[in-house]
Amino acid sequence: MNIDKGKIMLTTKVIDAFDYYFNQKPEHLIKAPGSVNLIGEHTDYNQGFVFPCAIDFYTYVGITRRSDQSVKLVALDMDDQDYFSLTEPLTPHPTKTWVNYVKGVVNEMMKLGKEISGFNLVICGDIPQGAGLSSSASLEVAVAKAISKLHAFKLNKIKLAQIAQAAENNFAGCACGIMDQLISACGIKDHAIAIDCNTYKLTKVEFPQDLAIMMVDSNVKRGLVDSEYNQRREQCEQVADYFSIKSLRQLPLDIFKLEKHRIDPVLANRAQHVLEENQRVLAMIGALYVHDLPSISRLMAESHESLKTLFEVTIPEVDYLVKVISDELGQECGVRMTGGGFGGCVVVILPQDRVNDLIPIIKGKYKKKMGLDASIYLSTPAQGVAAVF
Ligand code: GLA
Repeated sequence: MNIDKGKIMLTTKVIDAFDYYFNQKPEHLIKAPGSVNLIGEHTDYNQGFVFPCAIDFYTYVGITRRSDQSVKLVALDMDDQDYFSLTEPLTPHPTKTWVNYVKGVVNEMMKLGKEISGFNLVICGDIPQGAGLSSSASLEVAVAKAISKLHAFKLNKIKLAQIAQAAENNFAGCACGIMDQLISACGIKDHAIAIDCNTYKLTKVEFPQDLAIMMVDSNVKRGLVDSEYNQRREQCEQVADYFSIKSLRQLPLDIFKLEKHRIDPVLANRAQHVLEENQRVLAMIGALYVHDLPSISRLMAESHESLKTLFEVTIPEVDYLVKVISDELGQECGVRMTGGGFGGCVVVILPQDRVNDLIPIIKGKYKKKMGLDASIYLSTPAQGVAAVF
């Protein structure tokens, strides 16, 4: 058996911190993974298709019940603590985003009529933050699972993801879709998961063992992301309103094309991206299933181009990383931006045996051109949220 020392250290870190701050052992320890989206970007909140996998990087939370109605929080990676009371109405913290992920989950559970007792919670993790690898979603899912386990609530994984998403929407101010939370809850080891965000139907596709998933972080942190992201979402909703439909999912591409010239060009571009991206996800499911690397390469390239020119969420640093990698490996890899955009990571699907040679090339060229260090992470698809104990 492979014993991953890094993960054992995270477990120990939570246990030691519990002892230090609360003089007790955690009753439960939960881990929830981050994720990377292979294709299907800005489609989830349009009730479309996405194709992410969970990654082997996690948020860990330890929890114990308190005898009063207080909630005491310790975030080890932020070197920060916070406190709130369940007897007062919950409102978002004005400055501490990490607190709002926790408070938001508590608030959503209370809205469901769940009776929550006070608790102590310790948080730590190894998911790169602000890189588009869903560190916040994993925190929300881990907290939802921890509270649910502590109180023996009967909430399935999809419900946990919905609570986590609502927490982000209502307390963290980002009108995100369900993808990041759903894959953190429902990931399956060694599989990518195609999600129909209209029905929440999940389809697992085994990830070929001779291919690697590489994430290259541009290290450009996503500034202004929430306002830009929320604006993209509103633009998509405006097109749905124009066609008097619930979401862009209900709009066939050919009908859109007939009507396109009547719509504001920017809005039309946003919708065109979403409709074509949905089709690319469906094609990608087949391509990954039969291990068709040239098709994977083409679909990911088209996705990136569309996010750059139609949806306008890429930045020069990320475009450059995509170019360096595709110039190097051509049809032997798939590469595109991943996540919400405006910085963050590029995702690469490539043969395992090309990984070692590629890393120094990416780092060298990126540093020379952009003056920045690229951080590189590798992962196989991981299992979704689970209790360590
Ligand atoms: C962010 C959001 C997701 C999704 C992606 C874009 O990661 O959290 O819900 O919309 O952006 O695909």
